[in-house]
Amino acid sequence: DWNMGSFTDEQVKDIKALVGDKKVLCALSGGVDSSVAAVLVHKAVGKQLTCIFVDHGLLRKDEGDEVEKTFKGQFDMNLIRVDAKDRFLKKLEGVSDPERKRKIIGEEFIRVFEEEANKLGDIDYLVQGTIYPDVVESGTKTAATIKSHHNVGGLPEDMNLKLIEPLRTLFKDEVRKVGEELKIPRHIVWRQPFPGPGLAIRVLGDITEDKLHIVREADAILREEVAKAGLDREIWQYFACLPNIRSVGVMGDERTYSYTIALRAVTSSDGMTSDWAKVPYEVLGLISSRIVNEVPNVNRVVYDITSKPPATIEWE
Ligand code: XMP
Repeated sequence: DWNMGSFTDEQVKDIKALVGDKKVLCALSGGVDSSVAAVLVHKAVGKQLTCIFVDHGLLRKDEGDEVEKTFKGQFDMNLIRVDAKDRFLKKLEGVSDPERKRKIIGEEFIRVFEEEANKLGDIDYLVQGTIYPDVVESGTKTAATIKSHHNVGGLPEDMNLKLIEPLRTLFKDEVRKVGEELKIPRHIVWRQPFPGPGLAIRVLGDITEDKLHIVREADAILREEVAKAGLDREIWQYFACLPNIRSVGVMGDERTYSYTIALRAVTSSDGMTSDWAKVPYEVLGLISSRIVNEVPNVNRVVYDITSKPPATIEWE
């Protein structure tokens, strides 16, 4: 009679026994897997665990604050939120190649994480939110690498930390069950996939703070309306992206020359293939008019109706 309750209890017991009085570190991203892993380990060892949350400034609207509120506020965890926005933006300045963006972000992430870890010192264990499909995937690297998929959270190997990977045997739906049992808020447990490099790969071409602001605001409107329409559970992923194009429009008597926002919403079961979501026209219409009215410098909204393949889910 295997259930998530006994899984949680056993893990807590095992982790406690393993860790003893040593200290544990975790890179928390706010994603489902790292969140569940962190809360599980926290349940076992409490304040012996320190979580480092690297805020690279490429997160969605309010995301950083929500992570802090949940893990510091609700769970009373040792959480270090590193505001590294300026560092990342500086490194990314003028960079427009998607793979270079990923590489820069992955490397800078490790650097920031290491710096913070060194400040703490005296750590023996590292928690990672590895789940079963990750284990299988890394054992069979056969598929051609379309995108490098730098998962922010890929961590330094030379830090000499022993790994704790409590979710290694679980599938995503099981991780979510454990998360619910641990009383992690629904918006985290049921969060849609969000790429490690974040909005950096949703601003096509070079990244500026203005462009990040535009895509972040448009994305927040999209997410709000999708949730209001009750579609958030049936759509695998939905987001706004900012193609690097401007076009002519009209506002009052004035000609405008502003950005286009592309909306992407897809159905999928694993992200490997996907179809575009048949979001009702009224919902799309509402999102479009809100975006052009509320987000400065946008005068056109388009909806992406390609499947994967031949497109990919993200535009970069
Ligand atoms: P694509 O765009 O390749 O995306 O169809 C498939 C899934 O992977 C996510 N994705 C990423 N996740 N780092 C990540 O952690 C990345 O660099 C990255 N690129 C794409 C994408 O959001 C989708 O869920």
